[in-house]
Amino acid sequence: MDALLSRLFSSEEQELLTLDRMAHILFFMAACTFLTLLFENVPYGRYASSRYGFPVDARFAWFVQELPAFLVPLCLVLWTSSAKTSLLPNQLLIAMYFCHYVQRSLIYPFLIRGGKATPVISFALAFVFCVFNGYMQIRYLSHYAEYPAHWVTHPCFITGAVLWLVGYLVNVHSDHILRNLRKPGETGYKIPTGGMFEYVSGANFLGEITEWAGFALACHSVQSAAFAIFTAVVLSSRAVAHHKWYLAKFEDYPKSRKALIPFLF
Ligand SMILES: NC(=O)c1ccc[n+]([C@@H]2O[C@H](COP(=O)([O-])OP(=O)(O)OC[C@H]3O[C@@H](n4cnc5c(N)ncnc54)[C@H](OP(=O)(O)O)[C@@H]3O)[C@@H](O)[C@H]2O)c1
Repeated sequence: MDALLSRLFSSEEQELLTLDRMAHILFFMAACTFLTLLFENVPYGRYASSRYGFPVDARFAWFVQELPAFLVPLCLVLWTSSAKTSLLPNQLLIAMYFCHYVQRSLIYPFLIRGGKATPVISFALAFVFCVFNGYMQIRYLSHYAEYPAHWVTHPCFITGAVLWLVGYLVNVHSDHILRNLRKPGETGYKIPTGGMFEYVSGANFLGEITEWAGFALACHSVQSAAFAIFTAVVLSSRAVAHHKWYLAKFEDYPKSRKALIPFLF
């Protein structure tokens, strides 16, 4: 793997510059995505459309598209001279990333109940994103990120880690609630209740946005900030779309429930 990286980059300075440029590209993509999502819903799940290509089975799509977000970082950590993996802040941040993607790529897809097929273009874009972001986050953390002494006791790290953990738990718990709305074989939609769904329609999205915002605060890097902002753009659009969709579909939908931010929005 080191041989592959040294073919791609003539020096460490060049690779670090590339990692920074990748983050800037992701900021740009977040801005483009934000503008696009003013006119269009993210095209999968209940908004899947044949305009985005033939349907791919939901479990297969989620497993294959998310797998690079786990495998690329795993290869980087195991098979490159990852100079910073012996340092505690880097270890903890890499562990947070893996904790999420072990669940998302190896567990979540096999728990899906009656999920709508994913259009092939959405599937392909998600796959490319997972390769891109998996490399960008973990190569930076495992080989380049340098933190001051005692960073793990710095208020930024502690606040970020707590936000990451709360967000992770809200995300996993909310996805669990959604999954259990359907009995095996069912594919329809019901009103979610319990947990953060008592406050917002996009409880799973609120969890994931909080998670990566906390991660970015703890990482203090342009790479993690770009990921957090991209996630917030995609998932806040999805939360707003779901909220409108529920209000239109269910007459008895709780009127006090907000889209994404409890009591506010
Ligand atoms: N980091 C990122 O950029 C990013 C991007 C996308 C997703 N994600 C994460 O991936 C996970 C899944 O995202 P998603 O967009 O697929 O979430 P979603 O639209 O809420 O759907 C999640 C699952 O629950 C089902 N479901 C949703 N609402 C339901 C209801 N009212 N009644 C019965 N079943 C319902 C869906 O079935 P259908 O397929 O039939 O709708 C799907 O299988 C979330 O945790 C999200 O945070 C992260």
